[in-house]
Amino acid sequence: MPIDFEKITSLAKRRGFFFQGSEIYGGLNGTWDYGPLGVELLKNVKQAWWRAMVQMRDDIVGVDSAILLNPEVWRASGHLENFTDPLVDCKECKMRWRADHLEGDRCPNCGGELTEPRQFNLIFKTFVGPVEGDAAVVYLRPETAQGIFVDFKAIQGMTRKRLPFGIAQQGKSFRNEISPGNSIFRSREFEQMECEYFVRPEQAGEAYRSWVRERYDWYVSLGMKPESLRLREHEQSELSHYSAGTTDVEFLYPWGWGELEGIANRTDFDLRRHSEFSGKDLSYVDETTSEKFYPYVIEPAAGATRATLAFMCDAYDEAVVNGEQRTFLRLHKSLAPYKVAVLPLSKKENLSAVARQVEKSLRPHFMITYDETQSIGKRYARQDEIGTPYCVTVDFDSLEDHAVTIRERDSMAQERVPIEDLVPVLRDKLSD
Ligand code: GAP
Repeated sequence: MPIDFEKITSLAKRRGFFFQGSEIYGGLNGTWDYGPLGVELLKNVKQAWWRAMVQMRDDIVGVDSAILLNPEVWRASGHLENFTDPLVDCKECKMRWRADHLEGDRCPNCGGELTEPRQFNLIFKTFVGPVEGDAAVVYLRPETAQGIFVDFKAIQGMTRKRLPFGIAQQGKSFRNEISPGNSIFRSREFEQMECEYFVRPEQAGEAYRSWVRERYDWYVSLGMKPESLRLREHEQSELSHYSAGTTDVEFLYPWGWGELEGIANRTDFDLRRHSEFSGKDLSYVDETTSEKFYPYVIEPAAGATRATLAFMCDAYDEAVVNGEQRTFLRLHKSLAPYKVAVLPLSKKENLSAVARQVEKSLRPHFMITYDETQSIGKRYARQDEIGTPYCVTVDFDSLEDHAVTIRERDSMAQERVPIEDLVPVLRDKLSD
């Protein structure tokens, strides 16, 4: 049964995953702040991606390019001309809508008549330097990809990588979305995780298919249920201006299926255009055959903030425990914000002293939290709700036997472990 999205957003706000940006001023539509738990979850999603895409591979290297790029980049990439969505206005209530997201031809707010669609460019414009004029205009990047293309030749030279190889980047992107919505699913400022994988043109078809499979498998390897995922190939009419083929990994959000990540065959469009516009030759020379050509590019493009939402939705669960309705975030251990919670059974000083010692011994090894308020049952529930995989309980027996109880989130199984073995035992549990 699909979960109620309201439950996710209210948990996100109540426990500090994410919430409306600039809230005390009434917010700013399409912007979100990530609280203490959200920032950990988002960081863990990005770290899992970086590890799989860069650290575990010999054929992909990373980059962190500037967000502000020379404006010519966006002319060459085609974004200034083509990065548009169809916009319609309601003639009655004046609300604006994305035409391709509407069902029917009337205003969803008041039923009024709509204008003819016109193309609206999603790129945010700003100025460098003290003078606001055409000469000073720059754009906030709408994708991280272009920073990779403009550095392609330099990075290939620095690393001496031969085809096929990739360059990966994570970071903020900005789009002036006509209708941001579904909280962090579609926002105006968000984070992307993109890789441009350069191949010989004749290998593009095979590389494209293998990246589609690889990216689908990545979500499953991090605990996402296969029934929450599907692959959908774009119709010709849906393709971006640079794409010869795109497949979306789609997720079953509480409101229905939607894009999670896109894998595109960008052909040699970007390298050719940047060569043309910059006057710098970005072609590649095959060392063995001396053949010179523009590589094709396969691009797995994921949203870090959107994936954070999808992982939360997929992990959300409710169960009755001891007659009480409870919430669980059954996040993969590597994504969970806290790995371990240390919970003294009571606030009594002799117990606190041992619990604080346990906390001190664990803190250098794991992201942990310490909680001594309210009953132990309530504290377990609080940790289950934010996805903490293990709780370590220090009780009065601990004073005698120098052991503590490890309680596992999903099975609720409990195990007694000597304090001196806690670090290796938890490390073992967290790595399986
Ligand atoms: N470089 C290709 C590119 O940017 P895209 O499909 O427009 O492709 C890639 O974006 C991913 O970025 C999407 O699959 C989605 O996860 C994320 N994304 C795009 N627009 C977004 C928005 N407004 N808010 C949150 N995430 C977004």
